[in-house]
Amino acid sequence: MGMLDGKSAIVTGGGRGIGRGVALLLAQEGASVVVNDLGAALTGEGEDTSVAQQVADEITAAGGTAIANTDSVTDYEAAEAMVQQAVDSFGKLDILVHVAGILRDRMIFNMAEEEWDAVIDVHLKGAYNMSKWAAVHFRERREGGRIINMSSNSAFGAPGQPNYAAAKGGIIGLTLVLANSLNRYGGVTANAILPSGSTRMIDSIPRAVEAVADTGKLPSELAVGTERDPDNVAPLVAFLASEEAADINGHLFGSFGYNMTLMSQPKVIKTLRANHRWSVDELIEVAPKAFGERFEIEQVNDPGVTAAINAIPDGEWIDIGDGKRFWSSKLEPWGERSW
Ligand SMILES: NC(=O)c1ccc[n+]([C@@H]2O[C@H](COP(=O)([O-])OP(=O)(O)OC[C@H]3O[C@@H](n4cnc5c(N)ncnc54)[C@H](O)[C@@H]3O)[C@@H](O)[C@H]2O)c1
Repeated sequence: MGMLDGKSAIVTGGGRGIGRGVALLLAQEGASVVVNDLGAALTGEGEDTSVAQQVADEITAAGGTAIANTDSVTDYEAAEAMVQQAVDSFGKLDILVHVAGILRDRMIFNMAEEEWDAVIDVHLKGAYNMSKWAAVHFRERREGGRIINMSSNSAFGAPGQPNYAAAKGGIIGLTLVLANSLNRYGGVTANAILPSGSTRMIDSIPRAVEAVADTGKLPSELAVGTERDPDNVAPLVAFLASEEAADINGHLFGSFGYNMTLMSQPKVIKTLRANHRWSVDELIEVAPKAFGERFEIEQVNDPGVTAAINAIPDGEWIDIGDGKRFWSSKLEPWGERSW
């Protein structure tokens, strides 16, 4: 018995990296899976239809149920057809996981229009295309559904990724809209994950050059079976896709190695109020005093999640047994929790 027995899923970008691990685990848990992958190069160019088929074959060989789809998530009509393919093959669609993605990193002043468009197209327009057609189906069926989108830490301001950060920030906004608008149709949930894993995406960043110099191997080759293994993201996806997560809606999770994090929702942290419209002079005088401390410590940049987790003092972790630990920010209410 798998916890996703009888469910039907689409995993975009399911042919490689994080998506591949997700497709394999959803199938292992009993879901029938449409493995979508264009088989594109990291920059989005080219196609290789064998990439999706290989994962579908792997699932079938292991006794699971899967079919391949090699269309691009950027194609609005193909996205509709993909949802229809799931319905025709498996009778319905329960779970949409949008993982497909590409990179075209460049500083803003060097970024060409086509580099901007290509990245927005796969990540953000792809998320719209897929969730639009999944939502039409979920609304008709009124039996719930799951949408799980991949965002990224880069959304918070990675300097060399204006296109990617904008797309991943857009995915957060879209996911929250889906959470707020679809839940009424039988309990559809939508959540986003900010994942991590040494895939070819990580092989492409400058740090990878150091890894090759030190070890002769790319980060993705060294990652298998370690904390950097992209397959570490899949259990969180399978959990969110399950009936156990029926009440988890509109949240942002981080998946970093063996850490699963819950991000805070944006909230007001300080307020200045006057009984008249503020003058600029008044703001010059008062704002730095009221907000200044936050101005200094809030970096408009990657929140550095891994570094933040590593910086948690040993004494602040709560041992919850079996090699597992828990930590909560002091800013968050603890509630009635006991392990
Ligand atoms: N690897 C990380 O550390 C990391 C960090 C943050 C976010 N992410 C996000 O996680 C997702 C997966 O990343 P990954 O590292 O596994 O990348 P990856 O390159 O290994 O896999 C992405 C897959 O998407 C496919 N794809 C690309 N364009 C497509 C299209 N138009 N239609 C269908 N499929 C398409 C590719 O062929 C590829 O197989 C991406 O959305 C990425 O932005 C990854």
